[in-house]
Amino acid sequence: MRELALDDLPTHTPWPARLVGPADDPDDAGFGGTGVSAYDEVYANLLGLAEENPEMDFRDLQRSANHYAEESPVPISRAEELYLVDVDEKQELQDEAMVASLAGALSGGETVVALGCGWGYELGLLAEAYPDCEFVGGEPAENGVALGRELFGDRDRIRIEEFDFRDETWDLLEDVLAESDPDEGENEVVLFTQGSLTALPSVADIVTETLAGYADRVREGVHLEHVYELHSDESLLGLLRRAYTERREYNDDLLTSLRGCGAVEVTSATYDVVGGNPLHPLSEIRWE
Ligand SMILES: C[S@@+](CC[C@H](N)C(=O)[O-])C[C@H]1O[C@@H](n2cnc3c(N)ncnc32)[C@H](O)[C@@H]1O
Repeated sequence: MRELALDDLPTHTPWPARLVGPADDPDDAGFGGTGVSAYDEVYANLLGLAEENPEMDFRDLQRSANHYAEESPVPISRAEELYLVDVDEKQELQDEAMVASLAGALSGGETVVALGCGWGYELGLLAEAYPDCEFVGGEPAENGVALGRELFGDRDRIRIEEFDFRDETWDLLEDVLAESDPDEGENEVVLFTQGSLTALPSVADIVTETLAGYADRVREGVHLEHVYELHSDESLLGLLRRAYTERREYNDDLLTSLRGCGAVEVTSATYDVVGGNPLHPLSEIRWE
């Protein structure tokens, strides 16, 4: 891990140049979509790879996807410092941040409901780190669900179902809540998201109209998400990060929506826990 000066960031990602260039730059067209169909296409390719190579486990698959997408060294961020790392080290740092984010929330017996879990890499990793907990993932991309079932179908503590934040009711969460029995002190439910709320242009309605309805039965919420409101408007890095969110039309209202929602109390918001994309770092929000 080597320190990287902000001045040198443009050598490692095209985004600073794009962000200060014209908004309708034709080069932007190649930056990849963020809708469910774009993810579904990526997951379809990984599903094909998994089917052709049944000896590959979830870590092998993620590693293969990472090396296909990027060449070492890659820029990352932690706590507003920039670094260059190799592709595998970047994955390790992201894994560590995810496992650590749930450390205070899980003591054994809980069910973690991971919404927008992709093909379930996070379910596999967390199930290894927390062997006394159960993990239920929800994901709208069909191929993500299919791949998750292919990889984890034989594990008792992992399950993956179709789910969309935009649905009026979250049946997957309702089912888990119905199964849990807080009186017996077991199977308490913890809600988790990583990088999935980001994909929505606004989360205000989802927080106030849907999430709020379940909050009293959820013990804790942990989000590793891209949190626009925490970006400084006084530093160059903060301004670039704000511009990145705006250009990609990601939401800018997650923290504001949670703080404004009477059903939950935000207990902490930690900025830039890790930035696999240093202009779009994950911050950790916890609520009760
Ligand atoms: C950046 S990926 C993150 C996946 C996984 N949580 C991870 O950290 O690897 C964003 C995920 O959010 C999902 N997503 C997008 N829109 C969603 C929606 N409306 N409801 C639920 N998930 C959604 C995508 O399909 C994708 O799997």
